[in-house]
This record gives sequence, C-alpha cells and structure tokens, in this order.
Amino acid sequence: MACNWLQWSLVGLGAVTAVKLGLSALSYGWSFLRGYVLPSLGIRKDLKRLGEWAVVTGSTDGIGKAYAEELARQGLNIVLISRSEEKLRATAEAIESSHGVQTKVVQADFSESGQQLYDRIFNQVKNLNVGILINNVGVAYENPEYFCEITTDMLWQLVNVNVAAVTLLTHAILPSMLGRKRGAVVNIASFAGCYPIGLMSVYSATKSYMHTFTQALQQEYSGTGVTIQSVVPLFVVTKMSWIKQPRCFVPTPTDFVHRSIGTIGYQPVSRGCVSHELQGLAISCLPSWLQKTATFNVVKFVMKKFKAEKQKSQ
Ligand SMILES: NC(=O)c1ccc[n+]([C@@H]2O[C@H](COP(=O)([O-])OP(=O)(O)OC[C@H]3O[C@@H](n4cnc5c(N)ncnc54)[C@H](OP(=O)(O)O)[C@@H]3O)[C@@H](O)[C@H]2O)c1
Repeated sequence: MACNWLQWSLVGLGAVTAVKLGLSALSYGWSFLRGYVLPSLGIRKDLKRLGEWAVVTGSTDGIGKAYAEELARQGLNIVLISRSEEKLRATAEAIESSHGVQTKVVQADFSESGQQLYDRIFNQVKNLNVGILINNVGVAYENPEYFCEITTDMLWQLVNVNVAAVTLLTHAILPSMLGRKRGAVVNIASFAGCYPIGLMSVYSATKSYMHTFTQALQQEYSGTGVTIQSVVPLFVVTKMSWIKQPRCFVPTPTDFVHRSIGTIGYQPVSRGCVSHELQGLAISCLPSWLQKTATFNVVKFVMKKFKAEKQKSQ
C-alpha cells in the first residue's frame, strides 16, 4: 500500500515537472521565433509607429551608438544623450548624413547626482513625441576587483550612472508614453545582473537592480500599450568589454543591436542575439553552485591576468 502511494506520488511529480518543462520550452520557442527568426525574414514591428523620436543614453560609443544608428536606419529621429559634447556632435552629424533623420544632442554627465540634471534633460525632450527610450548608459570597473579595493568615487559613479539614470529618466519619459498608449522602454542591463558575480559585486548588483526594476514595471504597466524590456547581454566587443575582438559568441555592437532590436515587443527579457541566447541557456542549465563557482573562478583568473599585465607595464 505504502509502495503504491509512493509510486503514484513520484509519477505525479514527474508529470508536473514534464508539463512545466514542456510549457517553458514552448514559450521559449515562441519568443525565439518572434524575436529572432521572423525579424530575420523581414517580419518585424514598425518601430516608427511608436513615436517619431527615440532617446538613447550613452549614445556616442558601443551598444548605445549602435542602437542610435539602427533606430535612425529605421527612420526615427534621435535624441543623443552622452557626456562628451564633441563625440555627440560627431555622432549626430554622421547619423543625419547617413540616414536623413533629425537629431538633437543633450550633453549630460550621469555620474552627477541630483534632480537638476534630469529636469534639464526633460526640458529638452518634453515637446517631442518620444516613442522609444533606450536606457543604455552604464559604467563598470576597468578590471575585476575586491569590493574593499574600489574607490568611493567609483562606487558613486556606479550608483549614479547604472541605477539613478535608468530610474529617473524612465520616471520622466514613461508618463507621456502611457498618455499616448504606445511606446517602448528598453533597459540595457546585463547577464552579470542575473546572478551574483564576485569581484564585480557592485556592477553585478546595479545590473540586477536594473533587471528587477524593469520586470516590476512590466507588471505595473502590462496592457497599457507600452512595451518595457530588459536586455541582458553577455560579452559584446566595446570599450567597456574585456574582449576586444569579435568572436563567434562575442558580437560587435552593430551585429548585436541588429538582432536585439527585432526582439522589442516580443521578448520582455532578451539576451539580445542568438549566440548569447545559446550561452545563457547553457549556463542556466548548470546547477546553481556550479554556475557561481565557475563564474567566480573565471573572473578571478581575469583579475590576476589584468594585475600581472599592469605590473609588467610599470
Ligand atoms: N559591452 C559588454 O560586453 C556589455 C555586456 C553586458 C551589458 N553591457 C551594458 O551595455 C551598456 C553599454 O555598454 P557598452 O559596452 O556599449 O559601453 P561603452 O562602449 O563604454 O559606451 C558607454 C557609453 O556611455 C557613455 N557614458 C559613460 N559614462 C557616462 C556618463 N557618466 N555620463 C554620460 N554618458 C556616459 C559613454 O560616453 P563616452 O563616449 O564619452 O565615454 C559611451 O557613449 C552598459 O549599460 C553596459 O553595462 C555591456
């Protein structure tokens, strides 16, 4: 009798697990199809229908610049927000001449704190029909490091740039999208924010904030017509990245954004491109203790390498 009860419990548990896995696989397959396969066949959302302008932070380099260029290629006017006036002007000129759209530049250093900065930015965009906000700006420390070795100046930069900017800009711009019942807020978090990563503790925690904040907003504003997306890339070849040459699993910003932009409106959380989906899937299949130990050891190795190179060059 006891054996029967145990057998049926195990069968029940197995059936529930199989159904759960099956449903997850179906939902993943569907979002993969809509986010990557259909856009590559030219079936994608017309982003211009969300509004005439896109606002992109950290838009003079790397992933942000690639978003600005790709959105302009799709016919949107672009507000470029970054810290270097000279780089802003050069990027704006290049975008206008290549894509024939309008641009507006707003110089802002997000490492500053205080509401004044955000009021100044908002005053420059409040009369525009902003359909897309790409919260891309971000900073990381140059190399992995123990928390107590990070300067307080760097800690404030991480909090102001990675946490305050996304929060205050979304707070300023989302209401007008809600009023028009259309728009998209795309927050560039990181795969490093999906798991705790030692030796990148504050970066990883700030990106985790961004990822959690975005998913909470998705709940609050579901059904409003405004899409809110968290993008969690792995490595992309940029100034910030430790990897400086494109490889099979490490795309250039242009290649990455060409794919990630197709996922807007289809994937609430996106790793941004197929190669990152595969890497992320492989990592998430590992048991949690192995994920954490393996990542920590890789980061530790990178830290030692950086330190050895620094010592050599001194
Ligand atoms: N690269 C990766 O492997 C990777 C992976 C996962 C997630 N991400 C995330 O993707 C985002 C973009 O990263 P990225 O690799 O493209 O970085 P990047 O190449 O270093 O570019 C960062 C951009 O932000 C601007 N910026 C930096 N600090 C600023 C500040 N205080 N105020 C205003 N603008 C500032 C930079 O301006 P300047 O040109 O003046 O420096 C530049 O335009 C970040 O949020 C990052 O965390 C990157």
